Amino acid sequence: MKRIKHLTMLLAAMLLSACSSNNEPKAETTGQQRDLGSTLVVYYSFSGDCSNIVGTLTQLITADVARVEPVQDGVDYAANNYKAGADLINAINAAPNDAGNYPSIKNVDKDVNGYDHVIIVTPLWHSHMAAPMQAYLFQNAAKLAGKQVAMIVSSYSSSIGGVVSDATRLLPDATFTTDALWINNSNRSRTASLLNQWLDNINFTQSSMNNEKITVTVGDRKFIATLKQNATAQAFRNMLPMTLPMSELNGNEKYYYLDSSLPTQASSPGTIHAGDIMLYGASCVVLFYDTFSTSYSYTPIGHIDNPAGLREALGTGGVTVAFERISTGIDRVAADTQTGSDSATYTIDGRRVAKPGHGIYVQNGKKIVR
Ligand SMILES: Cc1cc2nc3c(=O)[nH]c(=O)nc-3n(C[C@H](O)[C@H](O)[C@H](O)COP(=O)(O)O)c2cc1C
Repeated sequence: MKRIKHLTMLLAAMLLSACSSNNEPKAETTGQQRDLGSTLVVYYSFSGDCSNIVGTLTQLITADVARVEPVQDGVDYAANNYKAGADLINAINAAPNDAGNYPSIKNVDKDVNGYDHVIIVTPLWHSHMAAPMQAYLFQNAAKLAGKQVAMIVSSYSSSIGGVVSDATRLLPDATFTTDALWINNSNRSRTASLLNQWLDNINFTQSSMNNEKITVTVGDRKFIATLKQNATAQAFRNMLPMTLPMSELNGNEKYYYLDSSLPTQASSPGTIHAGDIMLYGASCVVLFYDTFSTSYSYTPIGHIDNPAGLREALGTGGVTVAFERISTGIDRVAADTQTGSDSATYTIDGRRVAKPGHGIYVQNGKKIVR
């Protein structure tokens, strides 16, 4: 009974707040804009709150903006205790892999393919991501794979865990670089300062950092892994080279507790894949050599590109695993040239060589054949 009364009060308050908003982006601050690299802000807004957030956000960063809009104009999602919105959310939840369960949305004029980073700004509906934004992410999941993504969620008062789960379900191959920012009716008046603090942690890396590779060496087997584009992978990368005496667990993973903590943004991946390199808690590096379902949460660090033979190489007990950066030889040679330091020689895949034999190398930023 108490719960029903609370829900009715929440809905009444939400209705009032919806009526008092308008639907055009409204800027709240002025000043120097941050350059986050090539960034698209994608937003949906029914009653104007997300429009206002985007208005403030675009005062703080340089970014293009795209608005998601349902094909069906004029639907009042808030009418009858938010019934139309609830019906859309229930339909998606009944079968989230069925494209027919998402509402039709108009074409979005900016193609997300052209951007390295995406900021999603969405309302919360019934503890989930608003249905039109879900439709956009469902349709664009392939384009968003491998991109760095951050999210801002606006609600009246409900917390945003369900929206974060929707985002990771809809974009399994995107990298969420920081925790989603939650703006609600209690902190909305501080939107500009909340955005500023959040932007400090957003950790979008420039595209030159995309798809950075490392080697994972076990005995005489060398595997290539691609690092995720998140703060955890960056911190891990900065610790390399590192040779870890890893312990065996459950016939599917090797793990090692580091002395120091790394940044975390853990969520349950649902499925672990052989070759995944994950962080468990804040300091446990885990290398998985089997594919299986999990309910545990991890922060992804990277993935071995081709894990064939990984299980055999790792064996059944404790094992020593070396993680090393593959230096981006061409960048480094360019840097050496600028400082006039040396004319080191690098292989095409970026390894520095002291005594090059016959072959193609990079020296002073140029390819040379010896
Ligand atoms: C269909 C619908 C369902 C909603 N469900 C909730 C809810 O469960 N909890 C909550 O705190 N707010 C809920 N809200 C309120 C919105 O999340 C909130 O007002 C948000 O700031 C709206 O963003 P917008 O103005 O950009 O559309 C709902 C709003 C709508 C339209």
